[in-house]
Amino acid sequence: MSDAREKALQYARQNGERFLTELKEVLSIPSVSTDDANKADVQRTAEWVAEQMRGMGINNVQVMPTDRHPVVYGEYLEAKDAPTVLIYGHYDVQPVDPLDLWETPPFEPTQRGENLYARGASDMKGQVVATLKAIESIMQNGGLPVNVKFIIEGEEEIGSPSLVSFMESHKDMLAADFCLNPDAGMLGADKPSIAYALRGLAYFELRVFGPDHDLHSGQYGGAVRNPANTLAALIAGMKDENGRVTLPGFYDKVRPLDEEERAELARLPMDEAFYLEQTGAPALWGETGYSSVERVGARPSLDVNGLLSGFTGKGAKTVLPAWAMAKISMRLVPDQDPDEVRQQLLRYLEENAPEGVRWELETMHGGHPSISKRDTAGVQALSRAMETVWGTRPLFKREGGSIPVVADMQQILGIESVLTGFALPDDHIHAPNEKQHLPTWYRGIEALIHFFYNLA
Ligand code: BES
Ligand code: ZN
Repeated sequence: MSDAREKALQYARQNGERFLTELKEVLSIPSVSTDDANKADVQRTAEWVAEQMRGMGINNVQVMPTDRHPVVYGEYLEAKDAPTVLIYGHYDVQPVDPLDLWETPPFEPTQRGENLYARGASDMKGQVVATLKAIESIMQNGGLPVNVKFIIEGEEEIGSPSLVSFMESHKDMLAADFCLNPDAGMLGADKPSIAYALRGLAYFELRVFGPDHDLHSGQYGGAVRNPANTLAALIAGMKDENGRVTLPGFYDKVRPLDEEERAELARLPMDEAFYLEQTGAPALWGETGYSSVERVGARPSLDVNGLLSGFTGKGAKTVLPAWAMAKISMRLVPDQDPDEVRQQLLRYLEENAPEGVRWELETMHGGHPSISKRDTAGVQALSRAMETVWGTRPLFKREGGSIPVVADMQQILGIESVLTGFALPDDHIHAPNEKQHLPTWYRGIEALIHFFYNLA
C-alpha cells in the first residue's frame, strides 16, 4: 500500500470523532426542501457544505442559486492526466412527519447503540459527509491523485426541478469522466453493493369532484355519486388481479429481464424472507410470475401514496363528501417515460371515469429510470475498494428507488454514474427514526479513500 494511502487511512481513523461531530452539526439544520418555511435552513445547509469544501482546500467553491434551492459547486483539478470524477450529492431532506413517532427529535442527532438517529443521517447527509471526509483525508496527506468536481443539490427530495436546466447551462463546468453517486445505499452491514439500475417516477394528484358542497348522506345518499366511492373504484381498476397495471400501453416499453439477469438477481440475499422481515407486512404480493427482488428492481409499480376525503376524525359523521383526492405514483423501469405514463393515465381516466364525474389530474414531479454500465473503470475501482474494506466483493443490485439525476447525466453530460452508498435497508429513510449505522459509515469513508487511490 502506498505511503500516502496508508497515511490518509490513518488520518481518517484519528479524526473519526471530529468527522462525527461535524456530521451531527449539519444534521441539526432542518433542510426540508419541500417546505418554504425551511428555505433559510436549506440555504444555511448549502453554506455549511460550501464551508466544508473551502476548509478542505477545494477551489472555486460556489453556492449557486437556482429557482428554488442552491447547488453547491466546487472543484480540485490539479491532477494532470488523471480522470475527473463528478461527485453528486443532495443536502436536502424529507419532511419529518409524523413527528410523534420519533424517539428523539429529528434534528437533534442522537447516538443509540451503533446508530446515529436524525433526519438525513442516511438519506443522504451521512453519505455527503463521508465523501467530503474521505477527500479531506486524502488532501491532507499528499494531495488528491484524481480531479474532482462537486455538484451537491438541495432539491433531490422534491424531484430536482432545477437540476436539468442547471446541468444544461453548465455542461463545461460539469464535464467529467464519470459521476460518483453515493445515494443508492448497500444491502447490509456486511454486504457492500453497487447499484446498476434505478427506477424512475411519475407522481400525480388526482381529484374527483361530486356535489358542490358536503351533503347529509341520508338526505341525499343514493341520489348522487359519491366522489370517494368513484375515486376508490378508479384506483381499484388501475391494477388487475395479477398485480399488473392496467393503464393502456403501460408495459409497451418495459425492457424484459433476460434469464441470465434473473439468475443473477435470484442469487442476491434478497429472498422472500428478507422482504417479509424488512417490511413487517403479513404477506408479500405483486405481479404474478416475478419474485420480489424482480418486482422491486426490474418491474414497474403503481401505488397510492395518500388518500383524502370526507370525515376522517374520531367517531362517525354521516356525510357525503364534495370531493376526494389521491396521490398516486408509478415507479418506472427502462424504457418507460414519465410523460408517456401521464398520457396513459389520462387515457385510463377518460375511458373509465363514469359519465357526469368531474376530475382533475395534477402532475407532480417525475424522473427517468436508468441502467448504468457495469464494466467501467469507476465501478472496478470501487469494487476493489469495497473488497479491501469489507473483505468481500460487492453485490450488484437493481435499486427500486429513484435518483433521476443518473439518467439526466447520461442524457445531458454523457456520463455514467457509479452508484453506491453506506445506507442500509433498515435505515428508515423518509420515515420516523431515520438512522445511519456508524460502523458502516466509517467503513464507507475508508472505502472511498481506497476508491480515489484505485482510480489514479
Ligand atoms: N436516496 C433515495 C433513493 C433511494 C431510495 C436509493 C432507496 C436507494 C434506496 C433518494 O433520496 C430518494 O428518496 N429519491 C426519491 C426521488 C423522487 C423524489 C424523485 C424517491 O425515490 O422517492
Ligand atoms: Zn430520499
